[in-house]
Amino acid sequence: MAAAVAAIELAESTLPLRVLDVGTGAGGALGHLARRVRAASRDEDGTVVAVDIDARAIEVARVQLDDLRLERLVDLRVADLHAIAAEASATGSAFDLIWSSDTVWPASFDDPAAVVRALAGALVPGGTLALFTTNYYQSMFLPGHSRLERLIRTASELTWGLPHDGQAHYERLGAWMRQAGLSDVTLRVFPVVASTLAEPAARTFLEQIVWPEMRRAVASHGRAAGMNDADIARAEELLDPASPAWVGTDPDGFVVQPTLLWTGRSTAV
Ligand SMILES: C[S@@+](CC[C@H](N)C(=O)[O-])C[C@H]1O[C@@H](n2cnc3c(N)ncnc32)[C@H](O)[C@@H]1O
Repeated sequence: MAAAVAAIELAESTLPLRVLDVGTGAGGALGHLARRVRAASRDEDGTVVAVDIDARAIEVARVQLDDLRLERLVDLRVADLHAIAAEASATGSAFDLIWSSDTVWPASFDDPAAVVRALAGALVPGGTLALFTTNYYQSMFLPGHSRLERLIRTASELTWGLPHDGQAHYERLGAWMRQAGLSDVTLRVFPVVASTLAEPAARTFLEQIVWPEMRRAVASHGRAAGMNDADIARAEELLDPASPAWVGTDPDGFVVQPTLLWTGRSTAV
């Protein structure tokens, strides 16, 4: 994420930079975004407005802020991104950069293209919309079990009610930007590679988020995804921490995430 934030090209501006982080979650991007504001603004007079609809997420993000000593630069709010975008375009308090990481996707919004339109409308002329995704469904979380991983991915998509195709598919971020009238729509890839045993952050992510999510998806939608009894039993023994075949004990395990950054520029005047 740090490399993606650092790679965003911003228009030349004499004004203090105004940045919006939509769906900030635990605030993982705030330190990186604040560094961009500091680098572009004199006297620390820029701002990162960070919003999330979930008050618990904002509380967690507040702890991050205290740890990073960013209270002066960051304005944390419990809010719906639609309200912030509408306020920005109505009051002229538009943003130079709007950042979204894994927020705009069809599990959260029936019409993600409309969300991108709303965000594009909250940019200053020449401002940048940056839509980042960790690209969960094209990542390698079960290397060495590729067929099973494909089936589990389908089960997970079914669990989240994600479309397999069509205009609201989660891989259409660039299309939604173009449809919103943004120019210079560009895609870059920032791969993350880690050993499952050697990298504590990767290990925590897999153990606490990914493997349990896969296990739940197999239990709830494995059959609908085309898994037979043997597939379900094999997935269960690989994903159960109490099993001798648990993937967490594989000394050669690794994870690859080809994270994606889409950027587009507002041409509105
Ligand atoms: C998958 S999390 C991503 C969090 C963070 N950006 C990250 O990359 O780790 C998506 C976040 O978007 C927030 N969210 C969903 N709908 C929202 C809305 N309408 N307005 C603001 N935040 C929203 C959720 O509460 C959640 O914290």
